[in-house]
Amino acid sequence: ARPLTLGDLAAKKAAGEPIVMVTAYDHPSAQIAEAAGVDMVLVGDSAAMTVLGHSSTVPVTIEEMLMLTAAVRRGLSAPLLVGDLPFGSYEASDELAVATAQRFVKEAGCDLVKIERGGTTVQRARAIVAAGIPVVGHVGLTPQSATSLGGYRAQGRTAEAALRVIDDALALQDAGCALLVIEAVPAEVTAELVRRLRIPTIGIGAGADADGQVLVWHDLLGIYDGPAAKFVKRYADVRGASLAGVAEYAREVRARAYPAAEHAYPMAPGEHERLQE
Ligand code: KIV
Ligand code: NA
Repeated sequence: ARPLTLGDLAAKKAAGEPIVMVTAYDHPSAQIAEAAGVDMVLVGDSAAMTVLGHSSTVPVTIEEMLMLTAAVRRGLSAPLLVGDLPFGSYEASDELAVATAQRFVKEAGCDLVKIERGGTTVQRARAIVAAGIPVVGHVGLTPQSATSLGGYRAQGRTAEAALRVIDDALALQDAGCALLVIEAVPAEVTAELVRRLRIPTIGIGAGADADGQVLVWHDLLGIYDGPAAKFVKRYADVRGASLAGVAEYAREVRARAYPAAEHAYPMAPGEHERLQE
């Protein structure tokens, strides 16, 4: 399939055709996302939690994100690739934001970069766009600032709070963002955002009205144990299948059932006899 463009996303929005986005953090997952026909892949800073074992997204570094993102790039051709600028890599100045965004394009092959929140981020978005790099905004629950938002909880549940989310979204659109991720807000707030915005919206825990949806790879495939957010739907039990596979391997090794004859390399004809002479 040919590489998708921002024009294709606008056309989908105009046609009322939902945009499909997933996260991915490595090469085989990227190849699966491509084969499944998704429109966009986000190498989220959720990698801090899903693949690096941190308890928030804050600790992941630029270098770690670049390594994961470049691996995903090598597995994709048609979907648009979004790099997620990690905490501390863009907030302090426009210069820092542009330099970091350029690394994600140049070293990891991103088509777009994503940054979180409104506030000073609006100006950073404007600067990155001015440097020729398309930007995805992210409003509602923004995990990099979860502590100041009162934890991992839905945002915009009162009219005042909803208006703050809407103001951030409009400011990010004005700054030139190509797309907006809306995380963990009531469906009514998403509907209002979609009504007021021109750019496509991608929801996560934001109801059915957004122009597209994104889910975290490990959530949608059931790769870990334990509770998930309210909005997560599990489409597979990869943890269960993986656990069964590794447990069976361990059992066969201990029973000397693996490796079997067909897994062994034969010596060249006659060589075993010579070895034993
Ligand atoms: O890091 C991430 O996975 C994200 C998505 C949840 C939007 O930012
Ligand atoms: Na993120």
